[in-house]
Amino acid sequence: MSNENNGRVSFGGRFSIIAVAAGSAIGLGNIWKFPYIAGVNGGAAFIIVYLVCITLIGLPVLMSEFLVGRRGQKNVIGSYSKLAGKKSPWILGGFISIMASAMILSFYGVVAGWTLEYVVKAVSNVFEGKSPQEIGQIFGSYVSNPVKTITCQLIFMAMTAGIIIAGVKKGIEGFSRVMMPVLLGIIILLGIRAVTLEGSGGGLSFLFKPDFSKLTASGVLDALGHAFFTLSLGAGTMITYGSYISKRENLSATAVQVALADTVIALLAGVAIFPAVFAFGLEPGAGPGLVFVTLPNVFGQMPGGYIFCILFFVLLAVAALTSSISMLEVGVAYLSEDLGLSRTKATLLLGSLISGAGILCALSMGPSQDALTLGGKNFFDWLDYITSNFALPFGGLAVVLFVGWGLGKKNTSDELASGGKGKYTNLFIFVAKYVAPVGIGVVFLHSFGII
Ligand code: PFF
Ligand code: NA
Repeated sequence: MSNENNGRVSFGGRFSIIAVAAGSAIGLGNIWKFPYIAGVNGGAAFIIVYLVCITLIGLPVLMSEFLVGRRGQKNVIGSYSKLAGKKSPWILGGFISIMASAMILSFYGVVAGWTLEYVVKAVSNVFEGKSPQEIGQIFGSYVSNPVKTITCQLIFMAMTAGIIIAGVKKGIEGFSRVMMPVLLGIIILLGIRAVTLEGSGGGLSFLFKPDFSKLTASGVLDALGHAFFTLSLGAGTMITYGSYISKRENLSATAVQVALADTVIALLAGVAIFPAVFAFGLEPGAGPGLVFVTLPNVFGQMPGGYIFCILFFVLLAVAALTSSISMLEVGVAYLSEDLGLSRTKATLLLGSLISGAGILCALSMGPSQDALTLGGKNFFDWLDYITSNFALPFGGLAVVLFVGWGLGKKNTSDELASGGKGKYTNLFIFVAKYVAPVGIGVVFLHSFGII
């Protein structure tokens, strides 16, 4: 433990910070969600818009979160109240972020549970010799079997809680330092396998040759919304992690590297998936079932598929775990610092609440579907919808506005100069004041049905 951050525990050096923050960013969002929304929205053109959103909005919000956390040296609410004053309205931003992290983890844990089940399925070779329809049925009947999905979800949540209880250094940092390189290795291997398949070219041009006629307004807004989700923004994770970044590190460089790592992994996931999908003549726009149905099909047909299938689902599970710990840490840091609970108690309390909400998510896809569906969306869909469309943009807007307008230029430039030169401070403040808020405003207008 170092005391340069006023005695607060801090991550040990560059590699750890990148591993931990990129660990939060890189998750199901990159490997499960990004490929399927890119697939549904026509591929390359969508990806270009997505890259613009990451650069103009995602990156400034990410920098703002790191900045508030490191300046505040506290959990989300603690940092806002320290920097803005105990009764300031900015605290609402912190409150929404904590709610958002808990809500996301509720449904994220369910999908993460599926990945555990699929590791087991892959090891037991259940996909071999099955037709695409049969593989679709395996997914459908698993997802609608609440006993199985809830068991897997609870195992996953227990793993998440275990890492959090082990602590910021031993748990979060230790796990991410080991697992992130493993994850990178697996995804590169899968990418190489996919592009060396015969007939993979169609997948690559789907990914990299833009056809703007396929891009719709709602595709653009999906890209913007996904920029938040994929960089773990608006949910307080990067504020909390920012508070563990030592003053020796440069925040802008860190933010750029994390955003880059997240983008590279999303693109690599695309490279690992689409060439294979095209090589076997399957449908790229298959939606949420893309990695759970289409991919097992692909693996079932390709040489070495047994091993690659196991590797793929291990990859998904690890990516999910380094993200879920960041979500749980947001609330645990708050409960233990500001409400005086021990870390273990805070983890068990919050972990149980989140698992409880997660059980409802899992049930809402099974036999109790009807009781848990409202206005055409089940409980799972509602949590996803509310967080992606309202809570995350709200939390992100609050933090970027706070940095642009509330924090004061001296705080901002000191923090950006710490551990580096702070060359782009003025540009950053301009973007935080105007560019990012306008972009996020557009998401809101869309969410409220105005555009
Ligand atoms: N960034 C994660 C992913 O792409 O899977 C998801 C996520 C993690 C969202 C943490 C929000 C969060 F606070
Ligand atoms: Na991500």
